[in-house]
Amino acid sequence: MLKRNYDAYSSTDPLSSLLRLHGGDLMDSDGMQIEKRLSHHGSLSCYDHSVAVARMSAALALKLRVRVDMRSMIRGALLHDYFLYDWRDGEEGHNLHGFKHAKRALQNAERDFELTPIARDVIVKHMFPLNITPPRYRETVFVTIADKVCAVREFSISAWMSLPVVRKKHA
Ligand SMILES: [Fe+2]
Ligand SMILES: [Fe+2]
Repeated sequence: MLKRNYDAYSSTDPLSSLLRLHGGDLMDSDGMQIEKRLSHHGSLSCYDHSVAVARMSAALALKLRVRVDMRSMIRGALLHDYFLYDWRDGEEGHNLHGFKHAKRALQNAERDFELTPIARDVIVKHMFPLNITPPRYRETVFVTIADKVCAVREFSISAWMSLPVVRKKHA
């Protein structure tokens, strides 16, 4: 069972309310439930990573007082890694994950949900600059930044927790 670090649902802070308002149906969806079983960065699930990215994107836009389409940004952020496979399984088609998964996420998201052009841009371009097409909307810029910050944070926490001295302490 993967450990949940970001419980957007039980929390009552304003960012969690925003996430529930704009993306509650996505978080409850069968597709995003699959993400709970997919480990992503370290021991964190793809679901928790996606919620963390949506939270950070919203927090950045609010903090910087930049006008955004909050609903599209949050929904795009929640679905930005909606590729729905274990990228470590070595199966055919799952190679070059970093380069390919944004397109796969968009295909899956378009199949399962209605998307605005902004949400589509967020999903398919969140790997910029690894995927070279630049963001078209400011919402995509926020999600792209939040994704990188969250990934570094999650890998760092995971590396720290795997140190023998820390593992022993939490055993
Ligand atoms: Fe991604
Ligand atoms: Fe991501």
